[in-house]
Amino acid sequence: MWPDIAREHTEFRVHRQQIRDAVGRPGASEPRLLHPVLDTFPRALPLTLHRTPAPVGTAVRARGAALTRGEPMDRHIRTVEDVLRLLDGLFAPEADRWTDRAASWWDGFYADRSKPVPFFVAKPDENLASYLDRGLITPGRALDLGCGPGRNALHLASLGFEVDAVDLSPEAVAWAEERAREAGADIRFHRGDAFALGDDLAGPYDLICDSGCFHHLPPHRRVSYLALVDRVLAPGGHLALTCFAAGGMGCELPDEELYRRSRLHGGLAYTPESLRRIFSDLEEIELRRMTDEPPESPYFGEPFLWTALFRRPA
Ligand SMILES: C[S@@+](CC[C@H](N)C(=O)[O-])C[C@H]1O[C@@H](n2cnc3c(N)ncnc32)[C@H](O)[C@@H]1O
Repeated sequence: MWPDIAREHTEFRVHRQQIRDAVGRPGASEPRLLHPVLDTFPRALPLTLHRTPAPVGTAVRARGAALTRGEPMDRHIRTVEDVLRLLDGLFAPEADRWTDRAASWWDGFYADRSKPVPFFVAKPDENLASYLDRGLITPGRALDLGCGPGRNALHLASLGFEVDAVDLSPEAVAWAEERAREAGADIRFHRGDAFALGDDLAGPYDLICDSGCFHHLPPHRRVSYLALVDRVLAPGGHLALTCFAAGGMGCELPDEELYRRSRLHGGLAYTPESLRRIFSDLEEIELRRMTDEPPESPYFGEPFLWTALFRRPA
């Protein structure tokens, strides 16, 4: 692999030098041009180790190197989904929390149910309960997106919603199913990548509820998220979103930098402005910090989260 990457990089440098020569700008004063092969190794090393950030484009160059080994030429990008998958692949495999490959990571996360993880409690989000109490949303068809052990799906079902709930993790779905059985709740659970399930999540839903899934998506998967909302949310339907609040929790690096570093550092922080921009096709009903619920509260509430209620215009 190393000689291939070095050769490819050298060819690139030589080609660039030829262009510079042709336009009368030799550029030989740029020291790196004198050492193209040496320059290649530190650039490609992070990609190989998948531990330290790789410079943008390194993965593409490395893939290019495969060509010189005689592997079939890869020109498979045709659709938006192809591009999104390519961008998924720019992240280190162990940083993946959003594709089907991340199911086992989440399974490990849910394996010990006694862990002191705040959202392992069987309580609904305080904001969701409050929307219902205030009549901002009323029972209908609901989708719990990234349902985990099913806290919110259960609450919605108990109030008469017809609920679909989806999660990547078989462990999470099994736990949620157990809770639903114990509560006598009739919830349709789906195991898989919500953005790839197609007709299994056909909608139309009057409510999409997402507590903690959105902030685990890389920037390009917001495109998939918005496409799902667009496809399955009924006109006049609501999106209830809970996600990391900048200054409270989550990674605050700019989108572009995440691709340089190949990881999301535990989930992305959002500002109210970024949420308003991302969901600008929806009408904002309420956007506020989650209230800090005490242990004896029947609701879940942590102040490092935003809670937002958006409505799709009818
Ligand atoms: C922080 S947990 C929140 C779980 C649950 N909503 C709660 O609050 O109790 C995020 C969940 O999103 C799920 N998830 C992430 N990406 C997903 C995807 N593409 N499709 C379905 N579920 C996904 C994970 O498996 C994980 O259970």
